[in-house]
Amino acid sequence: MKNILITGGAGFIGSNFIRYLLLDERFDGNIVNLDKLTYAGNLMSLRDVAERREGKGYEFVRGDIADYPLVADLFKKHRIDTVVHFAAESHVDRSIHGPADFVRTNIVGTFNLLDAARASWKSPEGKRFHHISTDEVFGSAEAGTAFTEASPYDPSSPYSATKASSDHLVRAYVRTYGMPATISNCSNNYGPYQHPEKLIPLMVLNASEGKELPIYGDGGNVRDWLHVLDHCSAISLILKKGRVGETYNVGGRCEKRNIEIVERICAMIEQRMPGRKCAGLIKHVTDRRGHDRRYAIDSRKIERELGWKPRRSFDQGLAETVDWYLANREWVDAVRSGEYMKWIEKNYSMR
Ligand code: NAD
Ligand code: TYD
Repeated sequence: MKNILITGGAGFIGSNFIRYLLLDERFDGNIVNLDKLTYAGNLMSLRDVAERREGKGYEFVRGDIADYPLVADLFKKHRIDTVVHFAAESHVDRSIHGPADFVRTNIVGTFNLLDAARASWKSPEGKRFHHISTDEVFGSAEAGTAFTEASPYDPSSPYSATKASSDHLVRAYVRTYGMPATISNCSNNYGPYQHPEKLIPLMVLNASEGKELPIYGDGGNVRDWLHVLDHCSAISLILKKGRVGETYNVGGRCEKRNIEIVERICAMIEQRMPGRKCAGLIKHVTDRRGHDRRYAIDSRKIERELGWKPRRSFDQGLAETVDWYLANREWVDAVRSGEYMKWIEKNYSMR
């Protein structure tokens, strides 16, 4: 792991992962962060990293993973030996309103990266392609069951269908071309630098501003929550010790109903902002189409084989996360401006 191409490094998990790697004193590699800076990418999430490391083992490139000549050129120029592929269109609601970008980035973009790696890597020795995927490829989990690496794919949204396609491409490249690839399918992440279109930051910010808290349907949908830094530690372990061709499920063993999360956030905001009353802000709105009822990950394989386990409890992680969003208004304002706000105005009536 010497010259690493990280795609989507200006997004939520990618920016946390870059910081996670660079904070490790034993890390002596070079990072190239390739990100298109869509509405979801924000260089403010990496301001500290750029100040300390730009030109010193860290380089940012604005570009599209669907642009093959660019990607091929980066492989050559930086002698890339490792790819950690985060870049994706990642929001289910957006995929329902406009799936085309999801097909282009998630499927064509992943294909491009795989093909550029295939063209550039003459032998699999010392190379690794790690593909970041999601538990949403498995569809909705029946009560009492949890997704294992062998669970059948059954995606419900255009987002999860394109992620499923990209996983299949990665597996096909392993079997057909001997691509030294691994895949991780992770549950819902939360933590700092997550775009405020996603449940937890949206609810923290709206509650702190006295705005409505829109709960889709009855609020009984269940997600399995994992702190983003625990996801980062799983990815890092897979890069170091994961077996080529294998998939690892990563989850927090932390199933929560959406309404429970929102009620907890309300209580935390009321505690931190005396006088603010949040319960009345909760509003049940029209359900998301194709809304998966429950996700649950069985992460015993990565625990057993690689010794991974999450370090943050949900109580601790959520409290830290609420405090982070309240303390980082400058970041929030930057992310909310422009593109994202236009989209909200256009689509608000659909809820
Ligand atoms: P995000 O939306 O916050 O960030 C995505 C990043 O990719 C952005 O910086 C964006 O600018 C960039 N990007 C988008 N299209 C691009 C393109 N064509 N070329 C280059 N860059 C492009 O997403 P995230 O939440 O950080 O998710 C990262 C990855 O992890 C995704 O692959 C997602 O499917 C997966 N994942 C996310 C979660 C979660 O809870 N957030 C859980 C499991 C898996
Ligand atoms: P989200 O953060 O979009 O992640 P995902 O769809 O990938 O799981 O949503 C998490 C859950 O919260 C999901 O069940 C949908 C629900 N949700 C709401 O009820 N209201 C909202 O405004 C949002 C954004 C999500």
